[in-house]
Amino acid sequence: MPPYYITTPIYYVNDQPHIGHIYTTTVADIIARYHRMTGDDTFFLTGTDEHAAKVVDAAAERGLTAQEWADENAAAFETTFAKLDMSHDDFIRTSQDRHKRKVEQYVRMLIDSGDVYLGEYEGWYDAGEEEYVPEKRAAEHEYKSPISGRALVRRSEKNYFFRLSAYRNELLTLLEQGGEVDGCTFKVEPQARRNEIIARIKEAEDVPISRKGRTDWGIAVPGDPDHTIYVWIDALFNYLTTVDTDERRHYWQGGAVHLIAKDILWFHAAIWPAVLLALRKCAGYEWVNLPRVVYAHSFWISEGQKMSKSLGNFIDLEKIDHYVETFGLDALRYFLAVRGPMGTTDSDFSEHAFIETYNSDLANTFGNCVSRVTKMIGKYFDGVLPRAVDLPWPVVKYKTYEIDVPDEIIASGQAEHTSEGVMELNLQRLTSDLRETSSERLLHLQLSDAQESAMSIVREVDGYIDKTQPFKLVKDETKLPEVGTILYNCIEALRIASVLLWPFIPNACEAFWQRMGLDYAAQMRANDEHDNKFSEWTRWGQFKPGTPIEKGASLFPRYQPPKT
Ligand code: MSP
Repeated sequence: MPPYYITTPIYYVNDQPHIGHIYTTTVADIIARYHRMTGDDTFFLTGTDEHAAKVVDAAAERGLTAQEWADENAAAFETTFAKLDMSHDDFIRTSQDRHKRKVEQYVRMLIDSGDVYLGEYEGWYDAGEEEYVPEKRAAEHEYKSPISGRALVRRSEKNYFFRLSAYRNELLTLLEQGGEVDGCTFKVEPQARRNEIIARIKEAEDVPISRKGRTDWGIAVPGDPDHTIYVWIDALFNYLTTVDTDERRHYWQGGAVHLIAKDILWFHAAIWPAVLLALRKCAGYEWVNLPRVVYAHSFWISEGQKMSKSLGNFIDLEKIDHYVETFGLDALRYFLAVRGPMGTTDSDFSEHAFIETYNSDLANTFGNCVSRVTKMIGKYFDGVLPRAVDLPWPVVKYKTYEIDVPDEIIASGQAEHTSEGVMELNLQRLTSDLRETSSERLLHLQLSDAQESAMSIVREVDGYIDKTQPFKLVKDETKLPEVGTILYNCIEALRIASVLLWPFIPNACEAFWQRMGLDYAAQMRANDEHDNKFSEWTRWGQFKPGTPIEKGASLFPRYQPPKT
């Protein structure tokens, strides 16, 4: 049971949760669920980033203390994630003592080792983002904020600096050559983001990690309370502070998977790994490893336009509630996973695309196929799962592929040569191939491809029914064993598809399992030993003939938009 540690960014507590936050957290949730099912000792972390100066101002405007305001808004994130059934193992808040104490300790260690030093900094400051913009980038953006477009201000101050330049070469070697350097592997994905960060690291200078000024909100530089640790450094440390305990440290050593969007690539793919390399050199922290992957996805836009406060077009909680109430939570998760911006292009969140995906995949494919098969079992076998028997080829085979099939598959009877010299495969073989592809893709965070392979099993079941036509065969009583075999094959393929689809649409899959008399949900909850349930459940032939099969209401009723 190897450890698997996956994180989301910790979200600014000044904002209300919106589709962007929910997206990254859903993706992490899907991946965490998959890993738990495969038996990995999984830890999934999300939380809130609270020490921004903006929090103090926003709180003051409302006559609250910063802590009160942060409590209120962090609760909004926690409630939202609970409502959306996120399976995170912890929710870290940077205003918590457990976090603050560790950050102080890390910064002290870095001051002692010389990687953090006091210096003078002059540069272009982006007040909205609370960060300095390097000269070249500032010039490229005509000295306006690359994020908000507001004018940058020239500022100089005494700051504590992190010696990023000392780690430039090591980082470049890791990123350009891959593989292991000094026990650390480290990847930035997708490829285009890796190239982007390599170019930026080449010009990396030391970075300020504190701002001058005493504050009650934030963490003071140890030994120098006139400086406050810059909110970005404070926030990045959350990934480590949460698991830097005797019970959890092993999660870090397995190499974290940091899921982020492209907006915060620099901090995660350059500064953070360099800070970790620096920490590794400190006594007692030699175990600190680099993340195994920093994965930066792209952005959701809304109905064709960038989401912005001024346009008021955020897919906010109210809209999200509407989608969940109308289509169900699984439909939202599914849409995010299938149409989401995991690659390097942005995705459009549009009602039209949502309905189209829902109807074509969930209602017409998964929901419909489950109804179709269970209905036939109900009608022809009184709702009791029939037995599969050895049958001649015309019933078992159904699909023609012009590919090379290995000899052992032909020998096992799962495929044969046809008169045209091509091969024919049966449903069992197709299902097991698609299962392999799907899980391989999920391991590489290719969500929509993984789901596509899983959903292909369902499409194959539909194709198999169309080809073998059990509804016609059943008219001849002597053909009943063949009909039983066909339906057994269908339900078995659907069972395997449901295991693959569970991380995406857990509620529908659990409802399906319940109707099939399968106690997978309970087994998963009780899996303290971290058994690989996934490989156990995706093996063909587990359904017991004689099992009562309940038909039940449609898992995903087709959606008809109201007529206007
Ligand atoms: N607090 C920092 C992160 C610190 S992590 C050590 C921050 N917070 S944020 O609230 O602005 O969240 C940014 C993250 O939210 C993005 O990296 C992404 O994960 C998610 N998204 C915010 N808007 C998004 C979209 N429009 N589309 C997709 N995801 C987006 O930055």
